[in-house]
Formats: sequence, C-alpha cells, structure tokens
Amino acid sequence: MYSAKFIGKMVLSLSCLLASNLSVAKSVSIFSPDNQVKVEISDDNNQPVYRVFYQNKPVIQTSKLGMYFKSEPNFLDGFNISETDIQNRNQVWQQPWGERREIKDQHNELSVQFKRNEAPFHTYTLKFRAFNDGIGFRYEVPEQTGLDQLEIINEATEFVLPDSAGSDAWWIGAGQFNRYEHLYKKSKLNEIDRANTPFTARLSNGVYLSIHEAALVDYAGMTLEQQQPGVFKARLTPWSDGVAVKTQAGFHSPWRTIQIAQAATGLLNSDLILNLNEPNKLGDVSWVKPGKYVGIWWGMHIGTHTWGAGDKHGATTELTKTYMDFAAKYGFDGVLVEGWNTGWNGDWVANGDLFSFTQAYPDFNLAKISEYGKKVGVNLIGHHETSGFVTNYKNQMADAYALYEKHGVEQVKTGYVAHAGNITRVDENGFERKEWHDGQFMVGEYLRSVTEAAKRKISINTHEPVKDTGLRRTYPNWISREGARGQEFNAWGQPPNPPEHTVNLVYTRMLSGPMDFTPGVFDLTFNQDQQGGKAYPNRIPTTLAKQLALYVVLYSPIQMVPDLPENYEARPDAFQFIVDVPTDWEKSEAVAGEVGEYVVFARQERGGDDWYLGAITDANARTVKINLDFLSSNETYDVQIYRDGENADWQTEPYDLIIETRQMKKGDELTLSMATSGGTAIRFKKR
Ligand code: NOJ
Ligand code: CA
Repeated sequence: MYSAKFIGKMVLSLSCLLASNLSVAKSVSIFSPDNQVKVEISDDNNQPVYRVFYQNKPVIQTSKLGMYFKSEPNFLDGFNISETDIQNRNQVWQQPWGERREIKDQHNELSVQFKRNEAPFHTYTLKFRAFNDGIGFRYEVPEQTGLDQLEIINEATEFVLPDSAGSDAWWIGAGQFNRYEHLYKKSKLNEIDRANTPFTARLSNGVYLSIHEAALVDYAGMTLEQQQPGVFKARLTPWSDGVAVKTQAGFHSPWRTIQIAQAATGLLNSDLILNLNEPNKLGDVSWVKPGKYVGIWWGMHIGTHTWGAGDKHGATTELTKTYMDFAAKYGFDGVLVEGWNTGWNGDWVANGDLFSFTQAYPDFNLAKISEYGKKVGVNLIGHHETSGFVTNYKNQMADAYALYEKHGVEQVKTGYVAHAGNITRVDENGFERKEWHDGQFMVGEYLRSVTEAAKRKISINTHEPVKDTGLRRTYPNWISREGARGQEFNAWGQPPNPPEHTVNLVYTRMLSGPMDFTPGVFDLTFNQDQQGGKAYPNRIPTTLAKQLALYVVLYSPIQMVPDLPENYEARPDAFQFIVDVPTDWEKSEAVAGEVGEYVVFARQERGGDDWYLGAITDANARTVKINLDFLSSNETYDVQIYRDGENADWQTEPYDLIIETRQMKKGDELTLSMATSGGTAIRFKKR
C-alpha cells in the first residue's frame, strides 16, 4: 500500500509560464530509499528529459522522453511539467515459487505530468520509481479528447550512457533472423548498432547497469539503437504495417528499467523487474508445480530419434513408458514428449499450418500413457510446436488444452520456431501477415496461450518466446521459457555454445527471468563419428562438473534432465547431484562473480534446510575463495562437493570429476578450483 509522503500535490502555474513566455525550466528529483540513486526529471527547452546518478556518478546523462504517433502530434518538445506527486512503498510480498520466497519492494515514486503548452493541450505522465537497485519509469497516457485510436510509431525514450568509448557492454543484436538465439558479444559501448535487452554495461566509472523492461503487455518490445556515440534510443518492434503499438488513450507503456549496482553480483541479486510487475492475477496457484523432467527430446537433436513418423520415431507409447519408469526410479516429476502429434513429417519448420494439436501419431496412445503415468507417479508433459503459424495454434488452442487437461497433463512446452519477423498470422481479411516475435501482436499471442492454459490449470514453458519481462509474477503458470541459445545449440549449432556462453547468460538473459536451458548432458562428446564435414564438431564445451553446477546457476523452477537415460546410469555418482538438486528456493544469493568470467550462486532449498552452491567459469581455469556466510548459524553441514579434478580441462579431460564430503559450518572459508570451462556443484546437507 502506498503511504503519501507529500499529501498535497505540487501544482505549477502553467498559465503564468505561458503568459510571460518564460522558458524557466522546471526540475524535480527523487532518491532511492538509501539515497544512492537519484533521478532528475526536467523540461529543459520545453522537452521532457531525465538523468540518473548513482553515488553521485552519472549513470544516464540527459536523455529525452516522448513518443511519435502516426497521425497525432508527437509527444516531444512543447511540453512542460504541470504537476508532480510523490509516493513511497515499503512492503514484502511472496513468490509462489522462485529464487526466493520473500521479495522486498521498497521504493519512492515520482509522477510527473507533462502538458503541451499550446492547443491541443495534451497531457501525459511519466511515473518514475527509484529503488536501491535501480529505477523504472513508464508513460501513462490518460483518456483525453482527440487521442482515441492511437498509433505509436516509436518512443523518443533515450538512454544516454557516459564514456561510450571507455565503457564495456555485453549484448546481442536485435531484429536479426534468429530471434534472441545469438552469442553474446562483449564490446565497447560505441561499437553497438542495435541491441536487445536485457543489455548489460560496465561503465568506466565502475558502475554496472542493465537496461531492460518490465511488464510488457499489449505493447511492442523495446530494443536499443545507438544513434550517436552513447545515445541509445528505444526502438519499438513494429507490426508488419510499420506501426509499433495500436492502442488508445488510457494506456500505459511497460516499465523501462535500469538496474544499477556497484558489483556485478548486484545485478544478479536485484528483484527490480519483478517488483515492477503486477501481483498474481490467478489466485490459488498451488497447481503450478516446479520440478525436474526428462524427455524424448535430446535424441531428436543428436539424430538418434526423429520427431516425424518412421523407424526412429521417438514419441511412441513404449518409449514414453520407459522414460516414465526412468523418471519414477529417480524421483523426477515429468516426461516431455515431442513429436507425438501429426504434422512433423517433412519440413515442419516451413509447414506449421499442418500441425494438429489433438491428433496423435498411431504409435502414441495418449490415454494409455497418461494412465501409466498415474500408476508410476509421473506426469506427461505436453508439447505444441507451432513453427510460428500462430493462427493455426489459436484456432485449435481450446481443444488442445482441453485434451491435455482431460489426460492430466499439467505442463505444456510450446514452440515458435520461425525466423524473426516471420511469424505467420492470418488477418481479418484472410491475408497472411508476417510479424516479429517481440511485436505487439506476438506479445498478445504468448499471453493468450498462458491465460487460456491457466483456465485449465496448465503451466506454459515457452520456447522461441518473447523476452521475459517478469510476467511470471502476474501469471505464475508462465513457468519458464527459452529466449537465448540453450543446450540444443551444442547438439547442432554452428558454432556450438563456447565456454563463456553460460556465464554470459547469467549476466544478461538470466536477468529477465527463468530459462529452460536444459543443463546436465553427460555424454559430452556424443556422435563424434557422425560429425564429418562440419566447421565445428558438436560437443558440450564444458567439464562434467560444470554441467552439474548449471542446475544451481541457471535458475528455472523446472529443470530438464535431458540426456539419454543410459548416459546417466553410466555415471551414477555424478548423477546423484541431479537427483538431489531442488528447483525451487527459499533464498538465493550470487556471492561472487564478474560479468562474462565466472559466477558463484548459493541457494537454500524451498521449505528445507539444505543449501546448494553452483559455480561456473569461462574458458579460463580459476580459483575462487568464498566465505560460507549464507549457511545457518549453529549448524554443521555434510558438504558434498562435485568438483573438477586436477587434470580436468574441457577439451582434454572433461570427465575428470572428484566427489568428496567434508564437514563445514557458517563462516568457514571454501576454495573453489575450477578447470577451463569448469565448475563446482555442492550440496550442504544439514546434519
Ligand atoms: C525448438 C525448441 O527450443 C526445442 O527444444 C524443440 O525440440 C524444437 N523447437 C522442436 O519443437
Ligand atoms: Ca529453441
């Protein structure tokens, strides 16, 4: 609940300003609760602008605000501050599942109303929130005459970053064919053309920041375009007709977010994105279940099975039962089955309109499988690949979810494989239109699947999604998503994910929310004989210990155990960590790390006493000392350590793994020695 800090509103005398034609700029500021972050908003030259400081250092230099419309006069210059209002909030809310149970939302909020200083006297409000870990702001455009049926062409929002030649950034390009599935680049700020968010920077003044957005609903996704050195301008992803957002006055934009930290780990420990989302709209969500799952999946990616019918068809009743037995034996919750429904034969990427979401191949008996699953205590996880033909999916959605509900399926993985900008929709006149994954149209389609599934108590794990903006808070059945290069790229990617990829993900993609990365492949050099002619031989460029550590490092409430069952059973000692590791947490803390180099996470099991630690490094071997300050006082823990052996090296000795147990307690020092592309996974088991 808000408590009004200043009850009265500060109303500026607009008529006075106009009458005397004064260009006296107004400026208002707000500080974070700890006073370290300052945002200043002003109307210098009748143009709304903002600046951000952290510990008195500039983080965002004078940056414009506003909007461009197709038919109405732009919200640009000619606007002055007309009213301001300050509020604050200090509360704790709970996540039904997540990295931590309790989240603190403490911020100060400043609403600044701007008014056009000549007819038609339009107004809009910029709402800023200052948290200790950064800021958020959004546009709120109230209903007013002449602004119904608005078409936004772009925002004028800028993020002007200091010292673009001397500051570093980690980023992926935007508007490219492979959506968000690119390798992260590290460069100086001034070498960037257009980037997706989350966009991470280390300023030359030592401050870390991440630019992103929160609560992207009924609006276009924002990308960042560098227009002059250091001047990053919002570029909204348009519809196929060039308009970015089709709306009417009485709307607000998503929050534009800037997370700010003194250390790289500060970005990882920030809850700012979730705090800027609306509370849970689904009520009781005890039916949303975190957990681990296996699947008839990796085999398709490495070529031992096929999605389509034939000798190698993976989705058979028999094989699914075998996987269910395997899951039951080790306490895993679900079995994902891809390729069960008709439409996969032939070029399924091009022919997504042929997919049926209710018709199974004859060798897959949904009723029998779900019955078997009930018997052994394992859920079938559903799968809907659309290949980007979203109208085909929409037309079958109600029947498809009803069918799954009938058979007790509680979770569905969806897929939107299609080149970016190539999502197929059929418009009201029956014409095919091509849309982007992060345009307003698809923002709505993804949410449609989540809200329709919620009606049937089904959770959704979206692949080829729009980027995450924290909507899991509002719709907790949006349980995970992909939205970056996942493990699958190690099966067939050219090149596969390099050693630094997962560390890069932590400081970029993962800042937006959970990722269904699918860690934990044990056969790191699969299929070596079938790789002739490839520029890069496909293998998993990590040590085995790092594969284990990823379960703790890359947060997702659902984690896959993706490799073929026989590869796990061949290494039972290492497999024990995957059997033990939870996917839902009471507390989480990034305890050490540097962007793109390494990270150490500690997490406490939700509802339990055990702690887990995951540490990973890039291509460089390294030793990291940490203090076990996170453990509970007065307890002794059996510390089960899975670490790289003395000879471990991802290229020559990836399987050199040492498993050892020690006794330790809070405050003890622990040295983590990681091999090239190595890692450490630890269970702290309370005695
Ligand atoms: C891409 C997904 O990321 C992958 O996991 C899935 O197997 C294929 N699409 C087929 O749906
Ligand atoms: Ca994918």
